[in-house]
Amino acid sequence: MAFPGTGKIWMNGALVDWADAKIHVASHVVHYGSAVFEGARCYDTPRGSACFRLDAHLNRLFDSARIYRMDPGLSYSDLHKAVLETIRANAMKACYIRPIVYRGYNTLGVNPAPCPVDTAILLWDWGAYLGQDALTNGVDVRVSSWARSAPNTFPTLAKTSANYANSSLIKMEAMSEGYSEGIALDTFGYLSEGSGQNLFLVRNDTLYTPPLTASILPGITRDSVLTLARGLGFTVREEMLPRELLYIADEAFFAGTAVEITPIRTVDKINIGNGRRGPITEAIQQAFFDVIHGRSEDTHGWLEYVYDGEPRQAVVAGAKTARA
Ligand SMILES: Cc1ncc(COP(=O)(O)O)c(C=O)c1O
Repeated sequence: MAFPGTGKIWMNGALVDWADAKIHVASHVVHYGSAVFEGARCYDTPRGSACFRLDAHLNRLFDSARIYRMDPGLSYSDLHKAVLETIRANAMKACYIRPIVYRGYNTLGVNPAPCPVDTAILLWDWGAYLGQDALTNGVDVRVSSWARSAPNTFPTLAKTSANYANSSLIKMEAMSEGYSEGIALDTFGYLSEGSGQNLFLVRNDTLYTPPLTASILPGITRDSVLTLARGLGFTVREEMLPRELLYIADEAFFAGTAVEITPIRTVDKINIGNGRRGPITEAIQQAFFDVIHGRSEDTHGWLEYVYDGEPRQAVVAGAKTARA
């Protein structure tokens, strides 16, 4: 079934009908993947619709743009306001939020500098990425034959469209063999991440995740998991992890905006623990779902309500102010 889309898309300041939000086939981004983007979520909570860590997502978007020498010509607050306006214009209660900054139409030389930097914000309904059942029962995955990009090749701290060529290879390979996802190693053979999600393992009650130097995207969900796990009293370690730790882990799970927190039940057909969601995964999942669905107190200031007046400025510790 074709992608149904959602009402209006914000394009360079104008709200355009989904069907009319088009770019030219000679746009630089079409040929060279010259875009940076974000994926955030807005949840329908008992207090109203709330974006989860929108400030962190927008700061990462500006970081990605900076790495690729793109100036969207918008400040943090312009973009922040535009996201909230787009949600309101579409009267969305819950949605996936996709701001994208891309190189538009001018020349088709590899040098993107002559091309305009355009910005769009798309919204759509997106349920459980790997299926509702996966959240409880977990997914079957394989270690990918594709590695993540080597350091100093494609910058993985940038969420750029180009990186998703690699993600697509990982995902297609996994799905063609009946797995839900692939886990990629980095080029040194250490665990890196899934095609679109970060990886966590549990062994002897300690939570492990690959560090930023393992060619991973610095996930906002990953950061939230680390914060929640520490709050729950778990020992958390960010370190280079050998592949075989997967097979002897007591528990494993993915973390990401799309998958939220999804348990992994088998890797390469080997059961993780007893092949079911483990208790630490469940505790962290519970804490995460309680925050995003507004069931627990938002002690970290992660929720931003969309319909109750003017948007607030970023208040999360460490959040940056406008740089563009
Ligand atoms: C490659 C990759 N790693 C990790 C993540 C998780 O990041 P986040 O939690 O910010 O969605 C994503 C999702 O955007 C991703 O595409």
